[in-house]
Order: sequence, then structure tokens, then C-alpha cells
Amino acid sequence: MAHSSELIAKDIDEYLHQHQHKSLLRFIACGSVDDGKSTLIGRLLYESQLVFDDHLAALEADSKRVGTQGGDLDFALLLDGLTAEREQGITIDVAYRFFSTERRKFIVADTPGHEQYTRNMVTGASTADLAVILVDARKGLLTQTRRHSYLVSLIGVHRIVLAVNKMDLMGYDRDVFDAIEAEYREFAARLGLTDITCIPMSALRGDNITEPSPNTPWYTGPTFMEHIETVELEDLAHTRPMRLPVQWVNRPDLDFRGFAGTVVSGTLRAGQRVRILPSGTESTVARIVTFDGDLEEAIAHQAVTVTLADEVDVSRGDVICEAREPAGVADQFEAHVVWMHEQEMLPGRPYLLKTGTRTVGATFSAPKYRVNVNTLEHQAAPTLGLNEIGVCNVALDRAVPFDPYTENRDTGGFIVIDRMTNNTVAAGLLHFALRRAENIHWHAVDVTKESRAQLNGHGPAMVWFTGLSGSGKSTIANLLEKRLHALGVRTYLLDGDNVRHGLNRDLGFTDADRVENIRRVAEVGRLMVDAGLVVLASFISPFAAERRMAREMLEPGEFCEVFVDAPLQVAEQRDPKGLYAKARRGELPNFTGIDSPYEAPESPEVHVNTAEQDPGQAVDLVLNHLRAAGVLPA
Ligand code: ADX
Repeated sequence: MAHSSELIAKDIDEYLHQHQHKSLLRFIACGSVDDGKSTLIGRLLYESQLVFDDHLAALEADSKRVGTQGGDLDFALLLDGLTAEREQGITIDVAYRFFSTERRKFIVADTPGHEQYTRNMVTGASTADLAVILVDARKGLLTQTRRHSYLVSLIGVHRIVLAVNKMDLMGYDRDVFDAIEAEYREFAARLGLTDITCIPMSALRGDNITEPSPNTPWYTGPTFMEHIETVELEDLAHTRPMRLPVQWVNRPDLDFRGFAGTVVSGTLRAGQRVRILPSGTESTVARIVTFDGDLEEAIAHQAVTVTLADEVDVSRGDVICEAREPAGVADQFEAHVVWMHEQEMLPGRPYLLKTGTRTVGATFSAPKYRVNVNTLEHQAAPTLGLNEIGVCNVALDRAVPFDPYTENRDTGGFIVIDRMTNNTVAAGLLHFALRRAENIHWHAVDVTKESRAQLNGHGPAMVWFTGLSGSGKSTIANLLEKRLHALGVRTYLLDGDNVRHGLNRDLGFTDADRVENIRRVAEVGRLMVDAGLVVLASFISPFAAERRMAREMLEPGEFCEVFVDAPLQVAEQRDPKGLYAKARRGELPNFTGIDSPYEAPESPEVHVNTAEQDPGQAVDLVLNHLRAAGVLPA
């Protein structure tokens, strides 16, 4: 293959100029080592090596004249592709390799094919223009060929190269290739994939990689390199309506208020009418500011700072949209969710959801279905485990600007973060807003929580007892209710065993069921607090996330977490219901403290150790707290 040394010698500036302005193709290579993926990538790197070596040598030799700008640009480009994933905190196992030819620069995402394939593939595909799917000519289409095709099409990569490799081992037999091609096209059509180029090759022997192979005279299509060098790069982001998610508000002094971010789609123009979401306020773009001076317009992928003609309220996470074609705004969606963590999805648990530059609270419904990525079948599933993909409803605690993922990868894609560990646990694609969200409004009422409190002569509150089974929660809660009752306080006691006889009769003791148990109790408790009661809730409530959810449903000062602390041995010795003994005999699975975890509170309002303090002392501690918090009169 020709390389650029001539131009380097003749006109280094022209060479560097050309190199800088070459287009960039990002692609993902899917397949296992056995299919020859490493061989193919290795060969591509090797074939383009000369060009790259020359490039580096030229930079070194001529550093005085041209500095390192040319080289810097390449590396920056390479790093650009990586920061998106890094910022999202996804620990991934995707190797990005860079190579360049005379015509184009390439970044290939090489995703290992082991069991973490889904996470890796989703990450690798999220920025790809094209996917190369490798097939071993001896084996034909495999389950993983279908799986990879499904995943890339889901992520929005619609351009496929089916690399039918190891043709040398099949005697370069045209019939073998034709049969594989026909079968693949039929399958791909079911996924809506139509832009498919099938190439017979041998990565090992170099057939149809950079030169047309004399071994496949019947093949008239492009070589692999020719195809990836010339395939048209249609960057749909440019054709979509303008979106600028605001990364930060730049306010160096009172005279300047700029909104900084990257244009993710469309074209931003000075004088353009824009709508800021979610607020819906409109204004006009005054200036587009960059380090190199003001611009008349900025296109997709450009980082800019804009100022607006009016004094409007814009904050980080808002999306500046073209006024005539704004994004939607909603707080409930249907979405595809790709679960990426060992700890399975827990429907009802509060997570954080990050879309664009905005992070909000989110809960998922149980999946409507899970997709069997091997057969494309929809299966019933109570949850999603590592590497599983399903469709769920998601409810956010605030409305956010969005586009359907199929229309905009940036404003329609999201990641899910665990609130306790900060791990990225999932990625998702928004389908559409749920209509029910539009049709339900909050109804203001005249008799309020405050007026009820006045009538009662005390404030409302939720006293939340948490601790192991047998720690003494119910005993203390019962005694506290008697004392409050004697003081004329309106109370209600919600107790784990009792609630499980009615409202939560359908729930067991899996992690998911415990999350749902506490979610319902917290919602019921919130209604009772609104009714003006002092609610006593006595539940093991083993997970910090759900106790926090219960706390956050109430106003500051209304929630009192009581950690009823007893060492496991003490609780087990008491064993009032004989359940520990049963659990130890293996007759009661998922028993808290034995084979199911308990996450102790870190900073409860009241901490009692029932191995040392008696129930009366514990009750006094809670009463003191309620007086200090102003729930009860001092
Ligand atoms: S929680 O974990 O979901 O908060 P909850 O407080 O409602 O539990 O119910 C706990 C009570 O259910 C225990 O006091 C015990 O009597 C009973 N129980 C039955 N099976 C289990 C189990 N596997 N783990 C814990 N408690 C159990």
C-alpha cells in the first residue's frame, strides 16, 4: 500500500494539513479470537504502520518548523473518544486502537468476547459509525453472530461489514460465501439492518484485506481496507434538530453569563431562536464564544459557550434546543435497559439516572420483558441480571428534556448509577414518554398537614425501627406506642409481620421483594404522616438505599431512624420465633444475618444497643429525640 513519505519529504506542511483534515471512522470489531479478530486488527495496524511511522518521524525531524501540533491533534482525537466513557465511570474492558491511512483515520473498538460481552459491546458500539462482524467461514453464522448484530443495531449502529474470514480453509469456495451471505441478510433484515457489506477474506493470508485477492476472482466488491476508507460517513447528528446540553454556567463577572457545553446535534447559530428545557423559556442566541473568537455558527460535536439575548434562567443540565423543534420533557418513560452489574436490578429501588449533563433520581418497574439476545425472543423476567437486556418503565423524580434514542443518541441515552456505591450499573435507551404522566396532575387541597397537626397538638413523624430479626424492634415500638398514646399522641404502628399478612402478602424475602416491601411501607407511611400521625414502622429493612428512600419522602425533621442494635449471637439466642434455628438447619433460605445481608445505619437519629439497654431506656431516647425535633411539645 502506498504511503505518504513522498509528500513528507516534499511538503511537510501540506502533509500535516491533509492528515489533520482526514475524516475519522470509528468502528467496532465483534467476534472471538477464534474468528480471527485479533489477526484482522493486527493486520490493519501492520498495513497502516508505515504511514504512521513516517508521520511520527516527520514530526520529530521537523519539530522546529511545525511544532507538535499535527501530532497533538491525532492524540487528542483519540482521547476524545475515550473521555465520554471515562466520564461515565464505566469500568470497561474495551481496547481502542488507532491507525491511519492516506485517506482516513480510524479508531477501532476491540471488545473481548468473554462473558462480559454485553457491557463491553455496548460501550464500544456507543460511538461507532460501523460494525465489523466476523464469521469463521468453516462455522458460518453462530449464536454470537446474531447476538452481536442485535446489540449493535440496538445501540444504533446500522452499517455492517460481515467479514467472512478463513476463506482459505474452505478453498475460497464461492458457494460457502454465498450461503453465509444469504443467511445473514435474511437475519439482519429482521433487525432492520439493510446496509450490509459482505467480504470474503483471510486475515491471516491477507486475501481481500488491502488488495483484491487472486483467490476469489468471483468476488467483485471492495477490499476491506478500501471499504472502510471510502464508506460514506453520514453523521446523522448534523441533520437532527439542534441540542446543546449545558455542562456548566460560566459567569466570570456580572457582565458575562455564558452557557458552556458541546452541541450534540444540529447547528447552533447566532441569532437563532432557542427554547431552554425543561423550563420552556425562549430566547435568542446572542454570541457563540470560543477560545479563538466568536463564531457565526457551531455544528454537532463542537464545544462552545453561548450567551443569550435575554436574562433567562439556565442551569447545568438544561438543554438549549432549537425553538421550532424542541426536545420533549417528561418524568416517566419506556426504555431499553442493559444491566451491567453483578448486583441485579432491583425494581423500586431509587437509583440515579444521568442523561446528557443532568442527573436525577429514578426507579424502574419490573421488566415488561427480557430479550433473549440469542433468539430475539421476549421472555418474562422479574429482574435483569448482569449483561441482560430488557424493556422497563422508568420513573424519574423530576421531568427531564429528552429525545427518543433512535432520534438522538445523546439526549435519548442514559446511564444508571447506584446511589450507595456510585457504580455505573446500567445503560439505557429511551423509547417514549408514558402518556399517563401527561394526564396526571397534583391536586392542591385546602386542609393541609399543618392544619391537621394543629388540631392534633403535635407534629407528624415517622419513627423507623431497623435491625435484625429478634433485635427487639417490635417490643420497643409497641412500648413506645403505648407511651405516646398515654400522652394523647395520635399514632399508628406498621409492623413487618403484620403488614406481610395483608398489603404485602404477595412478597417473600428475596432482595427484590424486600425492596418492594419497604417501598410500599414508605409510601403508606408517607400518607399517614400527611394525615398527621406519628407513625412507627418496625421492619428489618436491611438495605440502606430503601431506608434512605423512606427518609427522603418526608420533610427534614419528620424522619427518625432508630437502629435497634443487637449482636447476631444475641438475636439468635433470643430467637423468639425459632426462625434462626430453622435458618441454621437450612430450612429457611435468605434469612437476614445468616445468608442475607444487613446494612447497619451509619448515622441513625437514635442508636440503642438492646444487649445493654432495656426497652424503657430505648423508648426514653426516642421520646427525647421527638421533643428536641419539635414533633412533641417540650
Ligand atoms: S424486611 O427485610 O423486608 O424488612 P420484614 O421486617 O418485613 O423484613 O419481615 C421480617 C420478619 O419476617 C421477621 O421478623 C421474621 O419473623 C419473618 N421472616 C420470615 N422469613 C424471613 C427471612 N428469610 N429473613 C428475615 N425475616 C424473615
